[in-house]
Amino acid sequence: MPVVSTFCKKGGVGKTTFIGFMAHYYANAGKKVLTISVDDQNSIFKVFGVEHKIFDANDNYLEFLLANHKDMGDILIEARENLYLIKTLNSDKLSLKLTLERNQEKALKKVLDEYAAYFDFIFIDFPPSSSRLSEVLLDMSDMILLVVGLDSLGLGGFFNTIQYFIDNDIDIEGIKYILPNGYSRNRRAPRISLEKLEMQAREFTPNAIVLPALQERSIIKNLQSEGISPFDDVKLATNYDQTAKEILLAELREIFNHLSL
Ligand SMILES: Nc1ncnc2c1ncn2[C@@H]1O[C@H](COP(=O)(O)OP(=O)(O)O)[C@@H](O)[C@H]1O
Ligand SMILES: [Mg+2]
Repeated sequence: MPVVSTFCKKGGVGKTTFIGFMAHYYANAGKKVLTISVDDQNSIFKVFGVEHKIFDANDNYLEFLLANHKDMGDILIEARENLYLIKTLNSDKLSLKLTLERNQEKALKKVLDEYAAYFDFIFIDFPPSSSRLSEVLLDMSDMILLVVGLDSLGLGGFFNTIQYFIDNDIDIEGIKYILPNGYSRNRRAPRISLEKLEMQAREFTPNAIVLPALQERSIIKNLQSEGISPFDDVKLATNYDQTAKEILLAELREIFNHLSL
């Protein structure tokens, strides 16, 4: 089943948030979804308010599976119905092993293939830093969704990402979608950034579809600080919040309608 990755060479642009929303959206639609964090921060756990599960056991990390100390089911952490997470502890070491030992790459591929037999989707949440692990997993992804932050005129991470792909021989055509994140009608920088991004995407990633922009919305941070995903069926305390959540949901569904995974 498809391996879908969110990537950007810049931090804080919304990779983890968006892949978390995507995972929950498909899980609610009845798909079995696995999201692997290859970011040691494991911030995907925060999107679902399950960060206490990061340290509840000290051997249920991806690395322990690859070292044959664990079985595939042992490291899955349930975040929601149909939605499982995998955490990482020491991805630098795994990266080094991937560089030093050729069979590690095969082992990692085997792990992905085995999980793929059980899940409808495998999503991978990357850190912004460079590593052998990231390169290998980006190569193994069926599609890459590039998240670009719009709040700076420097096009939050777009050019760095292209540069990184070229330098490391990762296929730019793997980038199937670009999500502009942080749009705001009332601020000049995001507006200009979005125009620039559409222009640059035509030149550098002509095969990628630029999705409708996700707006900058304070409800996203508010929900995340409570550990609530917008796809959780909960009534929020105030009417204002409830309305903001519903507007966000409609916006996300519209974006997901443009994806064919
Ligand atoms: N569209 C948005 N509007 C407002 N806040 C957002 C939006 N997207 C993401 N955020 C917030 O920005 C911060 C960084 O997002 P995150 O997904 O962790 O980025 P990354 O994974 O790229 O480092 C988080 O606090 C998140 O809640
Ligand atoms: Mg992240």
